[in-house]
Amino acid sequence: MANYTKRDEVAVIELNNPPVNALSFEVRSGLQNALKSAIDDQDVKCIVIHGKGKNFSAGADIKEFGAGTKQQKPWITDACRLADESSKPVVAAIAGTALGGGLEVALFCHYRIGTPSCRVGFPEVQIGILPGAGGTQRLPRLIGVNSSIDMITSGRHVMAEEAMKLGILDKIVTEDIIEEGVKFAKSVVGLDLAHRILKNRKIEAVSPKVFDDEISRVKKKYKGYIAPLFCLKAIQASVQLPYDASMEQELQLFQHLVGSNQAKAQQYAFFAERTSARWQLPTGANSQNASPLPVKTAGVIGAGTMGAGIALCLITSGIPTVLVEQDQKFLEKGIKTMEGDLRGSVALKKMTAEQAKKAMLILKPSVNFEDLHDVDLVIEAVYENLALKKEIFAKLDKICQPQTILCTNTSSLDIDMIAEATKRMDKVVGTHFFAPAYIMKLQENVYGKNTSAETVATVMALGRRIRKVPVLVGTCESFAANRMLHPYVTEALYLVEEGASPYEVDQVLEDFGMPMGMFRVSDLSGLDIGYKVRREAAKRQGIDLTLGTRFVNGERVCLLADVLVEKGRLGIKSGKGWYNYGSPGKKEAIPDPEVLDIIEEHCRKFGIKKQKISSQEILERMQLALINEGFRILEEGIVSKPEDIDVIWIYGFGWPKYMGGPMFYANEMKLKNVYRKICDFHQKYPFSIHWTPSKLLARLSETDLPISNWTSLINSNSKL
Ligand code: 3HC
Repeated sequence: MANYTKRDEVAVIELNNPPVNALSFEVRSGLQNALKSAIDDQDVKCIVIHGKGKNFSAGADIKEFGAGTKQQKPWITDACRLADESSKPVVAAIAGTALGGGLEVALFCHYRIGTPSCRVGFPEVQIGILPGAGGTQRLPRLIGVNSSIDMITSGRHVMAEEAMKLGILDKIVTEDIIEEGVKFAKSVVGLDLAHRILKNRKIEAVSPKVFDDEISRVKKKYKGYIAPLFCLKAIQASVQLPYDASMEQELQLFQHLVGSNQAKAQQYAFFAERTSARWQLPTGANSQNASPLPVKTAGVIGAGTMGAGIALCLITSGIPTVLVEQDQKFLEKGIKTMEGDLRGSVALKKMTAEQAKKAMLILKPSVNFEDLHDVDLVIEAVYENLALKKEIFAKLDKICQPQTILCTNTSSLDIDMIAEATKRMDKVVGTHFFAPAYIMKLQENVYGKNTSAETVATVMALGRRIRKVPVLVGTCESFAANRMLHPYVTEALYLVEEGASPYEVDQVLEDFGMPMGMFRVSDLSGLDIGYKVRREAAKRQGIDLTLGTRFVNGERVCLLADVLVEKGRLGIKSGKGWYNYGSPGKKEAIPDPEVLDIIEEHCRKFGIKKQKISSQEILERMQLALINEGFRILEEGIVSKPEDIDVIWIYGFGWPKYMGGPMFYANEMKLKNVYRKICDFHQKYPFSIHWTPSKLLARLSETDLPISNWTSLINSNSKL
């Protein structure tokens, strides 16, 4: 709803729908009524619109967007049209965020003022739609076509200072936004409003070439996403058509997107991220009843690629950090990497040179473990070796304060075994970052059997503070993310053995929307890493792994990647892997006939008959293998809800948001179809354990219930 009060001759309208004042039907109706009352009231000379609480408004209520349904009237434009027609000045007083429809309300006002910390933006593209209440028509009239294209197609938030420069804000005021709004509104009473009404403003002439170029840019930058292209169409309409006609065009494009599968998937992903933040431990402790400990300072051990990246996340979020390496030379190398990454961020305008400098000032590089004595939390990021990690944790346990939380960035080792090296097992937790740690948003937090709720709350809160998307998972071999990767990678190798080329496999995955095919990713990570992990695991199990091994414990294995490693093809770092890169470190991946010969030779050696494999089979086998594993992870309680898995794949491995994540994808395919296909593959490939159908999937597939019901079904029926 919207509250209506008066202060002298000023009408104050408060958008009231906590926590973010989403513009639900009630708010839109309330706003329309309040504007009408203010305009009709003879004593009112001017009007201020503000939001209750911290935010102006986060825009339309996303929950109201059922695919294909029309918005219930009054729509935002209906509610705001009165402002356009008002002879009394209307001022938007913005604190917190004015996003999407929230900003559109503000663009119907004659003036906009904001607090220094306010943010404005059109993030609609991120939920698969476009600004559908005049945003694509009114913003270009205010700030020009080019800046509008940038803001609307990127969805980025614009801070107060930039909003002022662009002309979105007329004034930056103090944080006391209602007082400031009233004062400002009084100061503009009696001024000519004609030029303040955006629909009356002339729009600059822009050649069609600008839009052609933008279409190419957007297609490349937001590959696969349709919403940014629709935004361009709507903005182009603002240039080509009279206001009323182009508003109609915007509405049509908006309605089309609202009903699209991409919008459904992206909106699911929006809420999945928030659902995933609500964690729960098997003890019943959860995000509602556990409080985080304060983290004022942190420490990172290891200045390699991961450690340096993690330290960068901490210092760029304002957390003073001690970075410890055992060797001065490695430490300096790590710092150089960090400085290089910061220069990159400055060049990309993600931060100012001043901010980059400030970040480095709160980094304390050290070769002395004792410097970690007073930090609140330490993240260990040395290489994957259990004995080494245990040694480090035993040492940290002695050096650090008793309340200090000790985190490990292990991607596979047992958290409980690491914790056993300390006398504070409740304060030991996994914080698994993804490479490159400074860029990738996933933070997979892993609790052990003794990790306390307070410790979990602390690392979950830390994740959000350092702009990551934290997900909580339980302990198991490789945890949730990499465990699901295993059948995906394995299936890719089987496909290559059976007749698909690595380049076909990658193409299918990239056409689906993955940022990189599996083989390109492997080259980027380095094939030698998997090689070492496989050998260490085999050694632990007493297995003699050689290039001639075809079965381990009755399960089919394919060691083609190891053949490449033994030929010196380690991936990008050696200039050759599954692809040829010309020279080490170069990024352009060129398919290599030599690799095809190696595969040919491998198949001849083992008498494997090659056949043509269709794109559909490639996609199905890779995706269903990981989806089946996802259901097993859910079944075992390693994650507590399907949204956790989707968030992991979106933010850890670049699963396209417009496909919602693997669990959402399975939901869209219908579980009975997914289950049937997995059973077929299980029959066809009996020696691949990853095709054993998940029991949970089997049971859920009988119910035909949508993904939103799975969690309560799992919780309410322990037999599932
Ligand atoms: N509609 C419905 N619910 C919303 C919402 C919206 N527009 N924005 C946020 N929420 C809900 C969240 O789901 C969350 O609910 P929960 O507590 O039950 O999980 C709650 O509000 C708080 O949100 P956050 O946890 O995200 O709070 P933050 O403080 O971290 O972030 C925010 C605040 C930056 C405003 C962030 O919520 C956000 O980005 N919201 C979406 C903004 C957006 O996409 N706006 C466009 C909407 S579409 C539109 O306006 C169409 C128009 O052009 C016609």
